[in-house]
Amino acid sequence: MKKLALFAVMVLALVALVAGYVVAQDKPKPTYVGADKCKTCHKDQHASWLETKHAKAFSVLKPEEQKKPECVKCHITGETAEKVTLEGVQCEACHGPGSEYKKPTIMSKSKFAAGKEAALKAAKDAGLVIPTAEVCVKCHTKEGNANFKEFDFEKRKGLVHKMTAAAPATK
Ligand code: HEC
Ligand code: HEC
Ligand code: HEC
Ligand code: HEC
Repeated sequence: MKKLALFAVMVLALVALVAGYVVAQDKPKPTYVGADKCKTCHKDQHASWLETKHAKAFSVLKPEEQKKPECVKCHITGETAEKVTLEGVQCEACHGPGSEYKKPTIMSKSKFAAGKEAALKAAKDAGLVIPTAEVCVKCHTKEGNANFKEFDFEKRKGLVHKMTAAAPATK
């Protein structure tokens, strides 16, 4: 009897493992791809973003500061300061890592034309973030930031880049 129970537990564990693997295969963890990849389809946002300080946020750091994790973390895009892959505050610092949602099977004119709600939901499921104040205050905070200036989301959100298309999604 004990053996049977043990066998059952092992089978269940195996099933869980395989199921977990399949789910993981289904939904790969999104990774950062860089602003150039977004530029292909979002030229206006990209061009206007390039003019902002966000685009240059890494180069304002002095060479020795560019090596300090305590500085770099708010002046780059990505999860860790240890391996700086994307310099500056790029699209994905606010919109989430884009390897999955940027795919034409998710983000395309035809998908959005067929139904904006559904297309937006699919994009969000694939990692797209429509930024709220919470996203910004991860960096726009006093903690560790000697250059802090008061941050008002409503006043600043329109300054991040030109908005085109059908206006911001939260409206
Ligand atoms: C294959 C083309 C393509 C690529 C690549 C792409 N997008 Fe999009 N994206 C679209 C289209 C089409 C829409 C629908 C709205 C529009 O026409 O602008 C959209 C919508 C969006 C929206 C707005 C959603 C809404 O309705 O409010 C955001 C934000 C966005 N994309 C961010 C990004 C970011 C960041 C990247 C790069 C990681 C990216 N996109 C890459 C085609 C693309
Ligand atoms: C918590 C996030 C954060 C950390 C950590 C951080 N910064 Fe910043 N830094 C910012 C933000 C946000 C701004 C923009 C100021 C604003 O508008 O609030 C900024 C602005 C700057 C500027 C431009 C100042 C100006 O007047 O244009 C420099 C230079 C700078 N930081 C250097 C550093 C250095 C050096 C360190 C490490 C000692 C550091 N930062 C750590 C978030 C941070
Ligand atoms: C990854 C960190 C980070 C995030 C997230 C972030 N910012 Fe910033 N932001 C910065 C830094 C760093 C600077 C200053 C760069 C400099 O002065 O060189 C800055 C500067 C700015 C500026 C001044 C730009 C200019 O060209 O004058 C505005 C406006 C701004 N941020 C708005 C926002 C808004 C709105 C959000 C959220 C939607 C946001 N930021 C999210 C780090 C961040
Ligand atoms: C500092 C944060 C930040 C950065 C960097 C940023 N965005 Fe945005 N983006 C926003 C905010 C905030 C909105 C408006 C969200 C809302 O309220 O709907 C927005 C809206 C959008 C929209 C929908 C509105 C429209 O224009 O149609 C698109 C598309 C978009 N961003 C693409 C991009 C691309 C591409 C980049 C990089 C070139 C980028 N964003 C960089 C914060 C950011």
